Amino acid sequence: MEREWWPQVGAPVAGDDIPPVTHLEWYIDKLSEGYSHDLSQSGLQMNWDWQELLSGQVGQLDKWWSLGKGDPSELVAEMEGVSPDRVVCCAGATNGVQLALMAALESRGQDGRMTRVAVEMPSYAPVTQSARLLGLETVPFRRLPDVERASALPWHLDRVSLSEILPTVGALIFTPVLNPCGWSLTDDDRAWLVEATLQHDVMLIADEVYDHALKPEGLYKPFFAEGEHCISVSSLTKCHAMGNLRFGWLIASKSVAQAAHRAFRTTAALLPSPVITMVAAAWPHLETAMDRITMLRQENLPRLQEVMAKHEIDWVPPPAGLFGAFEVPGDVSALEVVETLGVKHDLLAIPGCMFDESLTGWLRVAWSIDADKFAVAMDALDALLLDLK
Ligand SMILES: Cc1ncc(COP(=O)(O)O)c(C=O)c1O
Repeated sequence: MEREWWPQVGAPVAGDDIPPVTHLEWYIDKLSEGYSHDLSQSGLQMNWDWQELLSGQVGQLDKWWSLGKGDPSELVAEMEGVSPDRVVCCAGATNGVQLALMAALESRGQDGRMTRVAVEMPSYAPVTQSARLLGLETVPFRRLPDVERASALPWHLDRVSLSEILPTVGALIFTPVLNPCGWSLTDDDRAWLVEATLQHDVMLIADEVYDHALKPEGLYKPFFAEGEHCISVSSLTKCHAMGNLRFGWLIASKSVAQAAHRAFRTTAALLPSPVITMVAAAWPHLETAMDRITMLRQENLPRLQEVMAKHEIDWVPPPAGLFGAFEVPGDVSALEVVETLGVKHDLLAIPGCMFDESLTGWLRVAWSIDADKFAVAMDALDALLLDLK
């Protein structure tokens, strides 16, 4: 049987039944092969100057807590304009989704709904597979490409199937800026989803790991502002080029945040002191990352659009952010293309099958690298697409 690269949904799992995160196993190997042309990074690529940012603090990296410097939730609360008791800091967005599930699904009563979670597909496997490791069953629903202009228009919630699922679940996990297509949930779908989940008493968990990239375009609208049943989860991983620090947070109602805080204390006690020291040192400069996202879009996108137009691929960049996806011409497997022509042209991008079974013909490309490197990578992409003809 063909390998199932995409996120695995279904019954709760433990021990031997825990499915692999096939996407990451494939990708980590690929990264170690060291491709010259890297279109695979959905997050901002930028070097923070830690020498400068940490000057004088290196000897205190392990002393954040013993120096009594306070909880980093204050930083997040100020940035997002909420009270600190609605914020829980944690080890990245994926960990935030896990804590949100622990906190939001109440174990009261006999209601089977509380052991079932609706998960959006396509998705990033750790986020959707996590629920199963917490003893929950996952039920998939889809955001679908536009039938006419799949890579040129926003994708839409499959409201028909979701309407059937909502009465049977206690929570729903989704990613507003969808990976791999890069388009945000439309305003219309957003309003429908907030209302439908409220009506069915379903907790809405939004993985907003890419949403800060909407800020420079004035499009940032976090879900925590939409009601007590909504939880926003985010991190510094994708939009601020600090994935290795593993710093994230969730923002929820005070009561859910309180439960999530207890869940975090139980599972991790404290965030690592070096992480918070580094995050706090970079915090006053987070705008630098936003400016760089704007610059990379301005410099890189026209080049990508040129290649797409040359190969008659109907592609429009999403209005914000650093990645998008398109259907590779010629009814081919994008994974096979990456494994053959990608190797030939020294170019790495992510096949859509890593996110959903239905996207085997799709390729995700990112414009997150320096303009000079991106320009050369566009020559490689052009040559790869020529070879497909
Ligand atoms: C949709 C989505 N959520 C979360 C993550 C990971 O975020 P974190 O590293 O903060 O857990 C990724 C990484 O690719 C992602 O694509």
